[in-house]
Amino acid sequence: MKFFLDTAEIDDIRELAKSGLIDGVTTNPSLIKKSGRDFVEVIKEISDIVDGPISAETIATDTETMLKEAKKLVGISKNITIKVPMTAEGLKTCKALTDEGIMVNVTLCFSANQALLAAKAGATFISPFVGRLDDIGDDGMDLIEDIRIIYDNYGFDTQILVASIRTVEHVKRSALIGADVATVPPKIIHELYNHPLTDKGLEAFLKDWGETGQTIL
Ligand code: G3P
Repeated sequence: MKFFLDTAEIDDIRELAKSGLIDGVTTNPSLIKKSGRDFVEVIKEISDIVDGPISAETIATDTETMLKEAKKLVGISKNITIKVPMTAEGLKTCKALTDEGIMVNVTLCFSANQALLAAKAGATFISPFVGRLDDIGDDGMDLIEDIRIIYDNYGFDTQILVASIRTVEHVKRSALIGADVATVPPKIIHELYNHPLTDKGLEAFLKDWGETGQTIL
């Protein structure tokens, strides 16, 4: 499973890119606002740090204007993925862009039928928002299971990019289901490393080693 970072915070991206575990980055208008940065500038800076797909979202809601925005955004860097909303106009834009070989991430997906339509529109990635489904009392991971079955039934190439991840459990279940990508906030990435028994075990190893009086170097 690929890990994308779900942020527009350059410092977090730069730090975690050093781990070698980051395969791409997703942004959206809310993350851009939170960064306080110029949209085009921050996407350029991100694409200079991470080689993998960098999602930059269109703002227009009509196909004609989304296509114009997309053409400007793909000019920023070779690894730009255009994010469009899961709407009729968004899918028309998706079809037009993927027919030209431009990567598209269809976002704001909340149902299996939406994911089916996005795959038929040639989406490179589909972004089901699992956390927001949990917020309304659903189990967002059930949607990921349904999409995995549907895509495998028909051999769709569209990659399931689990989004709106809020917990390490979301990450684990994404991997168990066989999602292609998890786009993870930096805070959750850091939590993936941690387990109290690891800390406790390392402390005990170091204590016992210290009592041997030996050194390796
Ligand atoms: O990639 C989508 C993600 O940023 C949305 O997350 O927590 O606002 O639902 P959230």
